[in-house]
Amino acid sequence: MAALEYRNIRKTFGAIDVIPDVSLHIPDGSFTVFVGPSGCGKSTLLRLTAGLEETTDGHLFIDGRDVTDDRPTERGIAMVFQSYALYPHMDVEGNIGFALKMAKVPNSEIKRKVAAAADVLQLTPLLKRKPAELSGGQRQRVAIGRAIVREPKVFLFDEPLSNLDAALRTQMRVELAQLHQRLGATMIYVTHDQVEAMTLADQIVVLNKGRIEQVGAPIDLYNRPQTLFVAGFIGSPKMNLFTGEVAEAAGAHTLGVRPEHITVSRESGALQGQVQFTERLGSDTFLHVLVECLGTVIARTIGDASLSAGERVWLSYEPALTHLFDGSGNRISV
Ligand SMILES: Nc1ncnc2c1ncn2[C@@H]1O[C@H](COP(=O)(O)OP(=O)(O)OP(=O)(O)O)[C@@H](O)[C@H]1O
Ligand SMILES: [Mg+2]
Repeated sequence: MAALEYRNIRKTFGAIDVIPDVSLHIPDGSFTVFVGPSGCGKSTLLRLTAGLEETTDGHLFIDGRDVTDDRPTERGIAMVFQSYALYPHMDVEGNIGFALKMAKVPNSEIKRKVAAAADVLQLTPLLKRKPAELSGGQRQRVAIGRAIVREPKVFLFDEPLSNLDAALRTQMRVELAQLHQRLGATMIYVTHDQVEAMTLADQIVVLNKGRIEQVGAPIDLYNRPQTLFVAGFIGSPKMNLFTGEVAEAAGAHTLGVRPEHITVSRESGALQGQVQFTERLGSDTFLHVLVECLGTVIARTIGDASLSAGERVWLSYEPALTHLFDGSGNRISV
């Protein structure tokens, strides 16, 4: 059991209230992802959880036990950072087992634990290599290995894949998901990557200026964002957000439509516009269409669109697939 409970957690740095008041439940064995703009407090919240930073106010419980004043080593938590520093003069085996050696764990036990972690992370053939002889993804796996051998109840990951190239990220993402399944440990993961957040998370926590905007399953946040902030933050390309007449006609301050819910036609539709440019991804095409009363609208079409810049097109959307927000940025239930 390793459920986490944040109760009115607050963190100030001098006069700056970085985290004004966070209360959050993280279920045992879940994969929770923190997302939010740069500077919103994601790393600070992880560091508070690990005990690397003191909480100003509030309490943190792990397994129902108040750990707010516990030292990092007493919390049963392991953290993997974006810039993981491996010991360059030690081989993979030495790096993974280092914390155990420091803790004076018997050598035979270290060997056994390192071998088990290396097996899970597919590092067994590389145990005798030095970090300089490894690829970025392999080094990242060694950093995760160091965390695994400590058998923590909770893993904290702060943007662990952001230094890797796209192909490696995809591979490591799948490996992390499998690792979570195999270990069954509670994991908290910070990322800026929408795909990582959507695919890895059981629950996503959206943070904005140190406050929780919304907590929920990825698809619920995507389909029913409770605030304008979440609507604009989750999803790539972003949801189209319109104010003015079209929103007012629907009784809202802001009306949102996801790019995939905008239909594009050469013949007819509700709004006329001109294609400004196209982004062709192969699988999809994002059309940027300038509509006089709305500004730029992004529409997603499947496959390769035969439209090109300068063409006049018609756009439409179904009212049932729109998101309505009031003047305070809160969802209007429909
Ligand atoms: N030791 C510190 N002293 C003063 N301010 C700090 C300190 N550490 C962090 N901050 C401030 O706290 C805020 C939150 O920082 P934090 O690193 O948690 O953001 P983040 O969400 O992880 O951002 P990023 O996505 O860029 O990593 C920022 O405004 C930052 O400048
Ligand atoms: Mg950070």
